[in-house]
Amino acid sequence: MENSYSKSVMLSPDGGSVVILDQTLLPNEIKYLELKTEYEVWEAISSLRVRGAPAIGIVSAFGIYVLTKDMTYDFFDEFKRIKKYLSTSRPTAINLSWALERMERCLDDNKDEDIGSIKEKLRIEAEAIRMEDEETCRLIGEYALSLLKPGMGILTHCNAGRLATAGDGTALSPIYLGNSRGYSFRVYAGETRPLLQGARLTVWELMQGSVDVTLICDSAASSLMKKGSVDAVIVGCDRVAMNGDTANKTGTSALAILAAAYDIPFYVCCPTSTLDPDAETGADITIEERDGKEIYEQWFKAPMAPEGVKTYNPAFDITDSKYITAIITEKGIIYPPYD
Ligand code: MRU
Repeated sequence: MENSYSKSVMLSPDGGSVVILDQTLLPNEIKYLELKTEYEVWEAISSLRVRGAPAIGIVSAFGIYVLTKDMTYDFFDEFKRIKKYLSTSRPTAINLSWALERMERCLDDNKDEDIGSIKEKLRIEAEAIRMEDEETCRLIGEYALSLLKPGMGILTHCNAGRLATAGDGTALSPIYLGNSRGYSFRVYAGETRPLLQGARLTVWELMQGSVDVTLICDSAASSLMKKGSVDAVIVGCDRVAMNGDTANKTGTSALAILAAAYDIPFYVCCPTSTLDPDAETGADITIEERDGKEIYEQWFKAPMAPEGVKTYNPAFDITDSKYITAIITEKGIIYPPYD
């Protein structure tokens, strides 16, 4: 295995494909894929080859540019059809529809120009989405770091880092930034059942970044908190409702409740593009339910539950806003009451 990688999502130099790091193969293999067809882009998002809310938005923006750039007729209708198709690839991360809407707005705003310059505007817009995300991560890192102190123990869940964004991540950004300024954080990463984004991705990328990281079973969080090792919990999120309820990887809400019980601050980091003005509360957020085989088969040599077992496999859960100490965005820190 090579031991370095650059970005998790890029546009190929000739603009003919979206290049992604296949995150399903990590930490054992670093392999980049070139996505050129509608199905390849849709499948890469749906099967979590590329994942994390901001990265999903970026890949969909590059995707719709790549898929329409050589079209000569039916360009406008095809653009809208592909936008609709890609937006079905995953339901919870609002960044997917946010990025596709932004691309469509760019199309509509420039519809009177010649087709060549419309396509160029779309390329520039998709690149802007990627570049803005990089800066957003940096700003989130600065704001979040202002809440932390050197030497703190920080628990995180899933992967809200470099692999999930165009920059240093949302939840992991203050960790990279702090460490570059001598904060020497101790990070605890929950393995994140069932797809193990914590174990496979967060631990891997933090080790690449020379961060002190310890992997724990999700179920070990309460004992870790009880013995005083956790000074703050920091997570990313996929959608925020207007009352401050947040959807993030399944298991997040349990950590928030535990953190409240042990009087540990619980911070959610996200770009403002993750706020959903149409969701009044968490009850308005669609939670993705995935194949039950992810729970008992995907990562094991033999099935880990009897054949035919009934499963319930929500990919996300809602953390009630009353358990969230603050939501940290690129525009600043939001404290309760969130509405
Ligand atoms: O199913 P995933 O791996 O896409 O879930 C990702 C998360 O839950 C992240 O915490 C969230 O998208 C924020 S990424 C900056």
